[in-house]
Amino acid sequence: MKKDIGFLRAKKQQQQPITVLTCYDYPTACLQDEGGIDIVFVGDSVGTNILGYKSETEVTMADMRHHLKAVRRGVSDAYLLVDMPYAADSDAEQAIANAKLFLSDGADGVKLEGGIEKVPIVTALAEQGIETCAHIGHNPQIHGTKAATHGRTFAKAKRLIGAASALADAGAKLIVLEKITEEVSQIITETVDIPTIGIGAGRFCDGQVLVINDILGIGPPFKHAKRYQDYNQLTFEAICQYREEVANRIFPTDANASHIPPDKLERVQKWLKSNR
Ligand code: KIV
Repeated sequence: MKKDIGFLRAKKQQQQPITVLTCYDYPTACLQDEGGIDIVFVGDSVGTNILGYKSETEVTMADMRHHLKAVRRGVSDAYLLVDMPYAADSDAEQAIANAKLFLSDGADGVKLEGGIEKVPIVTALAEQGIETCAHIGHNPQIHGTKAATHGRTFAKAKRLIGAASALADAGAKLIVLEKITEEVSQIITETVDIPTIGIGAGRFCDGQVLVINDILGIGPPFKHAKRYQDYNQLTFEAICQYREEVANRIFPTDANASHIPPDKLERVQKWLKSNR
């Protein structure tokens, strides 16, 4: 069953947690979809996690479309969300043009980073019928990769709660809360009627998102994430074992080879001899 915004809203109303993971390639998309993840999300974290960029600000529309199209081929049920890369939504006209490119590539909705200043953009996208996910708190495109916790003071808590309400009123369908204190995230979740998706935002959001590399154990560990696998170690062990086996002629074996029938081989050998 295709998961749409109605399905995600119903999960919030029924207090069933929404599951979200970032995804950057076709095989992982197939596994996430088959595994029942609700939102498969092509984040601009593809830049630092896959492309070797130093910052999210280096990610381009071309990068995002390339990965979105690969992920689209692997998703049939999940809601497919894609990130607007840095500066691709600087004004409403540009945001609409870029969002339409993503929709033509098969995205269901578009996420954009920023607080109350993004209200005009969200409004313009909503007027075009484009589903948006807002993203407040830590914004890697603005604050860089080092994440401080947001919402620790009265003024900052008030600003976050106000921004979440304004973005929801402007027509955002979802909102990511990144690195926001658990208490403020809970207040936002209870205040807005759209689903909140937390990352480093505590236990009481309507859903949770993590970067796929972080749960697989690719790259450094983070306090907000949990490692379910040690991919770095497993991959390194596989690479070393392969190198050893090729160097020592253990791989390939006869089981990995294909053969020409003996009579055909005999003809080839005869032909070779006569041509020498
Ligand atoms: O790009 C990304 O991975 C994100 C998540 C941190 C929500 O925006």
